[in-house]
Amino acid sequence: MSAALGAKALTRGFTSRTVDGFVGAIGNTPLIRLKKLSEKTGCNIVAKGEFQNPGGSVKDRAALGVIRDAEKRGLLKPGGTVVEGTAGNTGIGLAHVCRARGYRCVIFMPNTQSQEKIDLLRMLGAEVYPVPAVAYENPKNYNHQARDFAADLPNAIWTDQFDNTANAEAHYLTTGPEIWEQTGGNVDAFTCATGTGGTLAGIGRALKEKSDGKTQIWLADPPGSMLYSYVSSGGKLSERSGGSITEGIGQGRITNNLGTFVNELSGALHIPDNKSIAMLYDLLDTEGLYLGASSALNVVAAVELAQKLGPGKTIATILCDGAYRYQSRLFSKAWLKAKELEAAIPEHLKKYAVLD
Ligand SMILES: Cc1ncc(COP(=O)(O)O)c(C=O)c1O
Repeated sequence: MSAALGAKALTRGFTSRTVDGFVGAIGNTPLIRLKKLSEKTGCNIVAKGEFQNPGGSVKDRAALGVIRDAEKRGLLKPGGTVVEGTAGNTGIGLAHVCRARGYRCVIFMPNTQSQEKIDLLRMLGAEVYPVPAVAYENPKNYNHQARDFAADLPNAIWTDQFDNTANAEAHYLTTGPEIWEQTGGNVDAFTCATGTGGTLAGIGRALKEKSDGKTQIWLADPPGSMLYSYVSSGGKLSERSGGSITEGIGQGRITNNLGTFVNELSGALHIPDNKSIAMLYDLLDTEGLYLGASSALNVVAAVELAQKLGPGKTIATILCDGAYRYQSRLFSKAWLKAKELEAAIPEHLKKYAVLD
């Protein structure tokens, strides 16, 4: 192999392009073909490596999307303040983008969240307010406190990730077209789970448009969420039961972001935690991919969809983030036992649960 060819084989093919700062490094993630699962199903199972975003998750795109939208609409001017209610990846994405663009970042979260999460956001320069963990209906809920805090400040926005459709728009403009291009316009189906709905709705709309309606879009849903019941009953039911080890996904209502696309879904897949955790360990063992539980759930859904649609199809999904933020749980024997998930992990994969 020549030196030039060797270098090309080692890069993603676009690294000769210089990007502008943190914000420029968001997106253009690789589409990773999952070899073993593709062979097993006779389909092409491909997964967007969103853990490679500079803040470490798919939510960097949404964070940039809502901030850019507020700037364009003149709601956020230099030196302004960005406020959100979040305990997870969106807060991390917002904190990074705020540093990169010179905004103050204020995060409200339920006081049940780990000190690790609070510390990380503070290390990224955000102000964090842990508030009592009360239901959404209560005006003291962290989302309402975030909204009220921004309303009382000049040059401040509440980014409102669940109902601000600039979130889905970011995926419509970037993630969806990237998947279309990376598959050469050959994607039979796409599936992923939903928290705000931004990823599913934005990518779904882009792929539907580009394929003239041919690409099927399926929701993947964990236990404890009402969306599987809602979608599979054609909007008649909204039942939910149980809970899930997955974080960032599952929902109790149709958010504005999901609402932009929910009626165009082809169907929904319910994925129990025992399948997600087994896939998480399997992807590490067979592909060397160290992923969070929502990514593993998405891959289970992609495999089930491949089996439904039959061989020869290309099925795409999302690898939302890495396992780094969850490793003290996902790879702990005591935690797996407490969650009754020990038996879900095949014997030959148990060696990865190295923590007590
Ligand atoms: C790890 C993880 N996976 C999936 C999602 C869901 O993405 P979306 O909010 O676009 O539905 C989130 C959202 O926060 C997340 O943090």
